[in-house]
Amino acid sequence: MAQVINTDNSNVRTILTGDRPTGRLHLGHFVGSLKSRVQLQEKHRQFILVADMQALTDNNGNPAKVRENVLEVVTDYLAVGIDPQRTTICLQSALPAISELAMLYLNFTTVARLERNPTIRSEIVHRGFERSVPAGFLCYPVSQAADITAFDADLVPVGEDQAPLIELANEIVTRVNNQSGKSTLKNMEGLYSETPRLPGVDGKSKMSKSSSNSITLGSSPEEIRAAVRQMYTDPKHIRVSDPGTVEGNVVFSFLDAFDQDKNEVDALKEHYRAGGLGDMVLKRRLEDLLQSLLEPIREQRKRFAADPEYVLSVLRTGTEKSRDVTSETLCRVRKDLGHFIL
Ligand code: TRP
Repeated sequence: MAQVINTDNSNVRTILTGDRPTGRLHLGHFVGSLKSRVQLQEKHRQFILVADMQALTDNNGNPAKVRENVLEVVTDYLAVGIDPQRTTICLQSALPAISELAMLYLNFTTVARLERNPTIRSEIVHRGFERSVPAGFLCYPVSQAADITAFDADLVPVGEDQAPLIELANEIVTRVNNQSGKSTLKNMEGLYSETPRLPGVDGKSKMSKSSSNSITLGSSPEEIRAAVRQMYTDPKHIRVSDPGTVEGNVVFSFLDAFDQDKNEVDALKEHYRAGGLGDMVLKRRLEDLLQSLLEPIREQRKRFAADPEYVLSVLRTGTEKSRDVTSETLCRVRKDLGHFIL
């Protein structure tokens, strides 16, 4: 049975979300998910999983990268205001029930189904795996279904690209329940961010942990300035008087994401399109916004980074709590499916 969390508020939902610890978190994570996690923790029962096992599915040759980023990512969470009193932060590899569930769920889907997943297909192309795709990588959506169901989560805040994974997870839930004849597992809903994905500063692709096109949460004022200066705009907008293009212009994508004054942004777009508005004016406006957004985060980050023992204790405490939750789910699933339990 799902636990009763808060009897006087039936709107309390269980939220599970996670990140692969493969690099520092950046502004793309901030607008895409971190900001909403800080709000969600006020009203809901939230778990955040540092998905180090999933990170290995495409970094098996580089365990140091994953190991070194575990505490960095937790430090990022704390710096943006995720409060360990309200959100349980936990480590995937220290929750063996998740791996056991994943192993069971592998039998509730097919290789053909996994190969059809559009997100996985494009990730395989992007990483150049072709037929050498690690089996763990092809199956990581199954392990993600285990992540979500292990916590009996109702809501999963993720980027749009994760929608096919939510669909698969719900399919697995249905199959398990059909087989057990009970409501063993709960269906979940994806909670998709309204902000479109933030592009990288080079305008070539989305902002990414692994490439140098990102502005990380701990960036120094100089790094922020340099990143804004080199931001891709409209290469055909040479003189201030030239008409400019807003679409695909990274500075405008950022203003859309960070500038609260939507009317002013609309006016700036109109001015830019008509000609007479220089890139430098826009970049200065954006830099000011980013400097004031990131200054307190950077300061908090420094404070937590100076106390790795504390960061570790947050992760340890959250993981211990999660161990109980996830092993209860595993027991229930095995019992409902009629497995031999020693
Ligand atoms: N696949 C997610 C990403 O790359 C990370 C993740 C792992 C996750 N487990 C999860 C997200 C469970 C939501 C729920 O961003």
